[in-house]
Amino acid sequence: MIETQIQKYPPTRFMGSKQSILPNIREATQNLDFLDVIDLFSGSGVVSYMFKAMGKQVYSNDFMKMNSIFSTALIENNSIILTDPEVEELLHYPHQTDGFIAKTFNGLYFSDEENHLLDRVRFGIKAVGDKYKRAIAMTALIRAAIKKRPRGIFAYTGDRYNDGRRDLKVSLEDHFREAVNTINRAVFNNGKNNLSLCEDAMKVSLKAQVIYMDPPYFSPYSDNDYVRRYHFVEGLACDWDGLDIQTHTKTKKFKSYPSPFSSRNGAINAFDILLKRFRSSIILISYSSNSLPTREEMLSLLYRYKRHVDVISIDYRYSFANHRQRKTDNNKVKEFLFLGY
Ligand SMILES: C[S@@+](CC[C@H](N)C(=O)[O-])C[C@H]1O[C@@H](n2cnc3c(N)ncnc32)[C@H](O)[C@@H]1O
Repeated sequence: MIETQIQKYPPTRFMGSKQSILPNIREATQNLDFLDVIDLFSGSGVVSYMFKAMGKQVYSNDFMKMNSIFSTALIENNSIILTDPEVEELLHYPHQTDGFIAKTFNGLYFSDEENHLLDRVRFGIKAVGDKYKRAIAMTALIRAAIKKRPRGIFAYTGDRYNDGRRDLKVSLEDHFREAVNTINRAVFNNGKNNLSLCEDAMKVSLKAQVIYMDPPYFSPYSDNDYVRRYHFVEGLACDWDGLDIQTHTKTKKFKSYPSPFSSRNGAINAFDILLKRFRSSIILISYSSNSLPTREEMLSLLYRYKRHVDVISIDYRYSFANHRQRKTDNNKVKEFLFLGY
C-alpha cells in the first residue's frame, strides 16, 4: 500500500531529486522507531512524500519558495484538490494583468502567447482564497513551465536544446491541466499535521526524531546553484517579490540565495553546526562520492556527535551531468546514505 502511494508522487526532473533511490532511503529507515521527521532540504518533496506515506509526521523545509510550495500542496495539504472548473477559470482569468512576465522575459524562454498565459494564471492564482488550492495551482504552473522548457532549466535562453520530444509539443495549457490532475491524484491524508517550511536550514529550530539532510552536493567541477537553473520558476513562486533581477544578465536571473554549501569549508562547517544541533535525533544524510566533504570526512564529522554510523552505498548515474563530467564519464558516482544514531 505504501508503495502504491509513493508512486503517485508526480514524476520530477528536479536536480538532485532522490526519486530513484527512494527504496534505499525507505529501507534504511523502515526499521527505525520514529514518529516524526524533518526533511531539511526537501527539493522536489519526493522524500517528504515517502515519509508521509510511511505514516510519519513530516516537516518539510527548503529555502526556495517553489519547493516549499510543492510541499504545501502535497505534504501539508491532506485533502484539498483543485477542480476542473477552477482550472479553467485560472486559464481564462478575465482581468487585466501587469504583464510582468511578457515584458521582462520577452523572447527569452517562451512565446509571447505563452508569456501572457503565464501572467494570466499568475494573477488568477493570487485571487484564489484557499492556501492549498493556490499551492496546487502554482505547483502545476511551475511543472508546466519546466516541462515546456528544453532540459527543464532556465540557465540559458532561446530554444537551442529543443529535441522535439512530446513535452515540448504539448501546449502550456494542457501541461497545466495535466499537472493539476497528477497533483490532485497524489493528495492524501496520513492523519498527521504535516508542515511545509521555507527557511534557511541553518535557522530551522524545530526538532524531530529523525532528520534527513540532502543539501546541494559541493564539487569543484560543477556548480550546485539551484537558483541559477530555476530562477524563472522560483521568481514565479515568489511573484518576484523582493527579488532583485540582475537586468544586465541575458537570462534576467536574480541574485542567488547565499548558501554555505557553495564551498568545501562552508559545507563542512554547516554539517558540523547541523549535526551538533540535531545530535539527539537520528540523522540520515545523502551525499555522493564525487562531492566534498569526502566519505571519510563525513564519517569523522558524524562520529563527533553519534556513536554509531552506518554507510549505505548505492550505484547511481546522474542524469544531470555537465559537459566536463560527461567527457570523463565521472558522472557514474556512488550515492551514500550515512545513518547516524
Ligand atoms: C539535493 S537538493 C534536495 C533534493 C530532494 N531531496 C529531492 O529528492 O528532491 C538540495 C536542496 O537544498 C536546498 N537548499 C540549498 N541550500 C539551502 C539552505 N541553506 N537552506 C535550505 N535549503 C537549501 C535547495 O534549494 C535544493 O532544493
